[in-house]
Amino acid sequence: MPMDVDLGLENTYIKHTKLTYIDGELGVLRYRGYDINDVVNNLSFMETAYLMLYGRIPDSKELKLFSSYIGDGKLPERIFSMIDTFPEGDPLSMASSVFAALAIDNNMKWSIDENKRNAGRIIGLSFNVFANIYLHIKGKKLYNIDLGDPVSGFLRVTNNMDPKNVKAFEAAMILYMDHEIPASTTAALVTASTLSDMLSSLSSAMNALKGPLHGGAAENAFLEFLDIGSPENVKPWFNEHIIKNRERLIGFGHRVYKTYDPRIKKFRELSMSLCDEKNRIILDTALELERVALDYFREKKIYPNTDFFSGLLFNELGFEHWFFTSLFALSRVTGILAHIIEYNENEQRLIRPRAIYNGDGERFIKR
Ligand code: SDX
Repeated sequence: MPMDVDLGLENTYIKHTKLTYIDGELGVLRYRGYDINDVVNNLSFMETAYLMLYGRIPDSKELKLFSSYIGDGKLPERIFSMIDTFPEGDPLSMASSVFAALAIDNNMKWSIDENKRNAGRIIGLSFNVFANIYLHIKGKKLYNIDLGDPVSGFLRVTNNMDPKNVKAFEAAMILYMDHEIPASTTAALVTASTLSDMLSSLSSAMNALKGPLHGGAAENAFLEFLDIGSPENVKPWFNEHIIKNRERLIGFGHRVYKTYDPRIKKFRELSMSLCDEKNRIILDTALELERVALDYFREKKIYPNTDFFSGLLFNELGFEHWFFTSLFALSRVTGILAHIIEYNENEQRLIRPRAIYNGDGERFIKR
């Protein structure tokens, strides 16, 4: 019997991985050994997804074949009718429902020969899932997007096809692609470990990613900037909310990073380079909040995390704040699929932890 529970599984390792390496003390993140900033500055989304799944940067022939797998990700008509019935509400819950609905009659079984091809198809499906959830919420006609280049096909839903915006969005899809096994990937691993299927595992992950302590932070950090309103109001706001009321500063802190999250560099660079006059005050407010918060939190090793800046970029790309977490989720589909394939192909074991009983001793019913 162990001494006590490992609350939050903080010190528990549930798998080996060759996918993503994180050093929380030094602020290092590598995909298959390549530094995240090297990857985001040199590879496309498709090349990075291939690297994540296959472990190498693809040649043109490999990329063409992988792209055809992604191109298979068209939604059936019944899914459009289902999305049409969704009420106003949380896009992540819609995504979880759609992935579960796609799992109803899916024929994708676990097979070493087929897993990566199926993952490619599901990546294509996920671009259509999130694009059509966005179109539904905006009251627009649903359709299967052009998956020839899923990134620009997706960005068409916001009619925002300026080449520098497509490049920036592609960078965001790379930066969020994987992060070892956060809560959402762990939820997917638990599901996949029962030999349930990939789509059902993604459905589990969406429900976990939705939470405000995890993916929900991408939206809530941005809402903080709007609530503060101007750089001048940062200090009084911070003193009231964070110091006096001891509220959590969303977009700050991380279970693993005890220094700057290495993904911030690119998100900050892009959000500053794309910022126009109408968004200037939001960016200046965010930068002032980062400065004030760092002064206060640095000694507790609480630094900004990727969600602090990602919303600024998504806003500048024309997405509404209620969709930021969905964009994080869309990118993370690839990393989640890579982890559940790695687990089930190499060390599959039903994930079934224990609880330490501290309840009543045996008792008897006396009638
Ligand atoms: C993501 O895991 C991943 O990799 C996730 C992610 C990914 O790519 O998948 O990186 C994406 O989810 C990033 C995190 C986004 N979440 C937020 O921004 C929400 C705000 N952050 C915190 O709630 C918090 O930092 C967590 C939840 C992210 C991590 O917290 P831990 O490791 O559970 O630490 P804790 O809650 O035990 O806090 C330790 C101390 C506490 O103070 P004391 O009670 O000891 O005095 O630090 C304080 C906390 O109050 N603290 C904060 C804080 N984060 C920690 N205080 C104020 N604001 C914060 N943001």
